[in-house]
Amino acid sequence: LNNGLALTPTMGWLHWERFMCNIDCAKDPDNCISEKLFMAMADMMVKDGWKDAGYEFVCIDDCWPSFERDAQGRMQADPVRFPGGIKKLADYVHSKGLKLGIYADVGRKTCGGYPGSLGYYETDAQTFADWEVDLLKFDGCYMDRTLIAEGYVNMSIALNKTGRSIVYSCEWPLYDWKVEMPDYPAIRDTCNHWRNYYDVYDSWQSVKYILDWTADHQDILVPVAGPGGWNDPDMLVIGNYGLSFAQQESQMALWAMMAAPLIMSNDLRDIDPRSKEVLQNKHIIAINQDSLGMQGYRTTQVNFFELWERRLSKNRLAIAILNNYEIGYPREFLISSSPTWKYCTKVCNVTQILPTYQELGIQTPTTNLTVKVKPSGTALLIIAPLNKASWDMDKKTLKK
Ligand code: DGJ
Repeated sequence: LNNGLALTPTMGWLHWERFMCNIDCAKDPDNCISEKLFMAMADMMVKDGWKDAGYEFVCIDDCWPSFERDAQGRMQADPVRFPGGIKKLADYVHSKGLKLGIYADVGRKTCGGYPGSLGYYETDAQTFADWEVDLLKFDGCYMDRTLIAEGYVNMSIALNKTGRSIVYSCEWPLYDWKVEMPDYPAIRDTCNHWRNYYDVYDSWQSVKYILDWTADHQDILVPVAGPGGWNDPDMLVIGNYGLSFAQQESQMALWAMMAAPLIMSNDLRDIDPRSKEVLQNKHIIAINQDSLGMQGYRTTQVNFFELWERRLSKNRLAIAILNNYEIGYPREFLISSSPTWKYCTKVCNVTQILPTYQELGIQTPTTNLTVKVKPSGTALLIIAPLNKASWDMDKKTLKK
């Protein structure tokens, strides 16, 4: 969407995967969906370096509204869980130098059964703008399939009409894929990012499914991504219960390769220092946020390794090597066997980002350099040309 926003993938936090539709504040006051939860996350984002690392949006997902609209037909927050209302929460989040995201649904109801926006697109867009919200996640439950495209487009127009800069996060293609191939050019014109595939769960199996699905459809997905519009493989679940540290590194590295929005869903008040280190790794974030904005491809699968390669600005390349052999010990991978190594025609400079940061120095086309990759872990490298003559990649688009 050409609204000047999301020129690099959105970074932030969203409540859904970790906190779901927990509305029992009597029993679970610290973890229920309430203004307190979002204020606490905003506090942590500033205090623990998340904001400095680039995470900017604090986002509300489903289950925030009251079941009734007000007399003017406007949505209202649940009065018990959000006694100050959303405008006050937005003020609080803004006072921390952060931005606030909210959630609504293109259909009659949200997936959780709360009021949907169908018939109220302009009212809801204006309400969110009046509250000074900065991002809208727009879900696709309870909607007639033939009206989905129109609904997402009309909400985009309504948001634009408010005059406020609001990042528009869609789930349009996810609901379309269930029936037919989505109209990606239209989706890119309408949304800043879009969910293509099922919800992420707190497990390696779920992360793997999303990666495999993305790779299987990469010839359709990769060309539509770029500044202003991104494929959204769903939240980062790093720092929760389900992934090993190697798998957490893999999710982070591959979300960077996919130029995906980096939207965490975890408990920033209680997170393992190693998870925090992965999520705040500035070298991985720099790949994700690279100004060229080209999404990477899975270029090959060989010997239980899979390679993802992404073009970066300044003629550089990022290479991620995922070890799919989920048994035993770290296995060696010969970097000169990656498909894009052919661009290194004379000499090039290699930097290792995962498993540890290390300058691997100047290498030749026939280098014997290897990296070790843990089971279900990922090694991440940046290859840079030394000078023009040493590198054969100018103007080439990286493809499978
Ligand atoms: C389905 C979406 O895909 C999820 O991310 C989440 O927003 C839930 N709906 C909320 O009901």
